[in-house]
Amino acid sequence: MHIDLSGKVAIVTGAGRGIGRVIATALAKEGVTTVVTDINESYLEDVQKEFDRSGCKGSTYQCDVRNYAQIQEVVQHVVDTYGHIDILVNNAGVAGGAPVDILSEEVWDLNLDINLKGTFLMCKAVAPIMKQQRSGRIMNAASFAAIVPSYGSAAYASSKAGVEQFTRVLAGELGPWNITVNCYAPGMIPTDMNHFAELGEPQQQRLLDTLTLRRWGEKADVANLICFLASDYAGYITGTMMDISGGKLATQIPRIAYEKAAAEGAYEF
Ligand SMILES: NC(=O)c1ccc[n+]([C@@H]2O[C@H](COP(=O)([O-])OP(=O)(O)OC[C@H]3O[C@@H](n4cnc5c(N)ncnc54)[C@H](O)[C@@H]3O)[C@@H](O)[C@H]2O)c1
Repeated sequence: MHIDLSGKVAIVTGAGRGIGRVIATALAKEGVTTVVTDINESYLEDVQKEFDRSGCKGSTYQCDVRNYAQIQEVVQHVVDTYGHIDILVNNAGVAGGAPVDILSEEVWDLNLDINLKGTFLMCKAVAPIMKQQRSGRIMNAASFAAIVPSYGSAAYASSKAGVEQFTRVLAGELGPWNITVNCYAPGMIPTDMNHFAELGEPQQQRLLDTLTLRRWGEKADVANLICFLASDYAGYITGTMMDISGGKLATQIPRIAYEKAAAEGAYEF
């Protein structure tokens, strides 16, 4: 199977670092002219240097996904410069929380405003262009928290569950225009958002114990999924949430299988 995305134009939000940056780079390496946006300008300088070094096509824009005026400006600029927008990846997100009785309104609003409203505002700005083209691919970052939330994640999990439902609604609205809309649910990928890789050994083991594939996810795992969803091979997939969590909680007590495998010399704890 050869995924050919050459000639396409993508916008990836929050792509200055983390999973978004790897998604943006992967798309660019597949020949996509990739527009990288982020709230943080210093991350963008780094990305531009990487693009220049590796000969990737694209550009960077500072843009807060909560700010509709900024979004409209970027989208207009992309259309004026490149002529079309084929792929939108709503990756920008924050995580933060506390048990509900001590959760502040500020943290609740921050999660909902960036993760859910930001996704809505980006889609609102890009959908008219994709409708005109009668084609487009939209991918929204949800989370495994939208399926099974963890302790203290009311704000984050609610925002991501909102992204999942929003994705279905939009898929229904844009179906007649040949635009697919999907979301994806990573489980646990060490990044600066969660600092999983810096946890103590026992805490890491406890988290890994929830995974059917007992290892951390890679940013590239998500990037590969995005490239697939953007390709012609995924033209009949819409309105879904793709679980890309290594089987988080897919099986009961995944550790049992690893203990058996260890006894057979096939796995080491
Ligand atoms: N890392 C994981 O295990 C995991 C699991 C499930 C879902 N996700 C989702 O994947 C996405 C990326 O996560 P990550 O781990 O790479 O996080 P990250 O914190 O490394 O990256 C998030 C990026 O979003 C940008 N951003 C934050 N607020 C913004 C705003 N208002 N406007 C524009 N950009 C903004 C940040 O500057 C940063 O570059 C998020 O939506 C996150 O919820 C991650």
